[in-house]
Amino acid sequence: MEELLYKDYLEKDDIVRLLSLQGDEMKRLFKRAMEVKLQYLDNKVHLRGLIEYSNRCRKSCLYCGVRGLNDKVHRYTLTDEEVLDCARQALDLHYGSIAIQSGERNNKAFTDKITELVREIKRLSDGKLGITLSLGEQSEEVYRQWFEAGAHRYLLRIEASNEELYYKIHPKDERHDFHKRLACIDSLLKIGYQTGTGVMIGLPFQTVEDLADDLLFFRRKNVAMVGMGPFIPHQETPLWSYADQIPPAEERLNMTLKMIAVLRLMMPEINMVAATADQTLDPMGREKAIMAGANVIMPNLTPMGHREDYLIYPDKACVGDKPEECFSCLDLRMKAIGHEILYDAWGDSVAFTKGR
Ligand code: 5AD
Ligand code: FES
Repeated sequence: MEELLYKDYLEKDDIVRLLSLQGDEMKRLFKRAMEVKLQYLDNKVHLRGLIEYSNRCRKSCLYCGVRGLNDKVHRYTLTDEEVLDCARQALDLHYGSIAIQSGERNNKAFTDKITELVREIKRLSDGKLGITLSLGEQSEEVYRQWFEAGAHRYLLRIEASNEELYYKIHPKDERHDFHKRLACIDSLLKIGYQTGTGVMIGLPFQTVEDLADDLLFFRRKNVAMVGMGPFIPHQETPLWSYADQIPPAEERLNMTLKMIAVLRLMMPEINMVAATADQTLDPMGREKAIMAGANVIMPNLTPMGHREDYLIYPDKACVGDKPEECFSCLDLRMKAIGHEILYDAWGDSVAFTKGR
């Protein structure tokens, strides 16, 4: 195993082996991933203030609590002023970047509104705030329009890179097309976004081979950012009926940490998020992810009154914490594990900046 931890180019068999480690060997993997991270990226943690813009969604992914077909959700869209207030708050808290996330919508009124908001945030922050978008699948033209308005990073998780598994967790119809999603990731890369993708871990029907293939997919696409988090079943979704067939919480979190650690060995300079879902399964989940190789955290900036309506999975951590509370909490938590938050910086992916 020691040899694998220092191997230049991990093959699928190696990855499966590393993802199967338990106990002390698993801890050794985390330690090595942390060492690699410190070597390439230092002990710096980047923040992205998360703005959950709207929970209206044209899709109905089988795992997602805000899927369009869940009629128990109260639907909302933030007003322009609410979004701009979030951006101002990010500036006040010295977060260098924000991420705007929303359910998927394609109509022109929506896509033009986003363009306008991106421009306005650029203007009010004097170009200081980095802007990440996470607004689902769009046409190349729309992606380009948003890029030209000033967004420079985009997150679109593939969710499962195995087509068969993809269709077990999405309805099989033209709105949930695996190949369309792949094409979107390619468009984002082509336009020049720092592109992020990722998967959920611990899904029903998911095997360790699938997970190894997910990591190979990230490497093959040469993405700049990856977000991976444990699957957390939501009662108002179709996948709830498989909740008793997935690994227990601790195992799902450990597998998430192993995925982060192995990917850090494979792609030492990318940005990787310590997901809020990690902390939902374990009060120290995000710290554990940082200690296994992650370097980004996304504190929530959504106005308090709308957070309960954006529960893509249940019991989401920090939902009741005001932005200024998260700010000091995170600063302390990161210091406690020997890390330092980098304020007032975009925190671009080193892999992307160096053109790797
Ligand atoms: N559990 C964990 N993560 C989820 N996501 C959606 N539903 C769930 C769930 N039940 C993730 C998806 C999506 C991101 C915004 O949240 O990966 O891309
Ligand atoms: Fe909204 Fe999947 S349910 S994108």
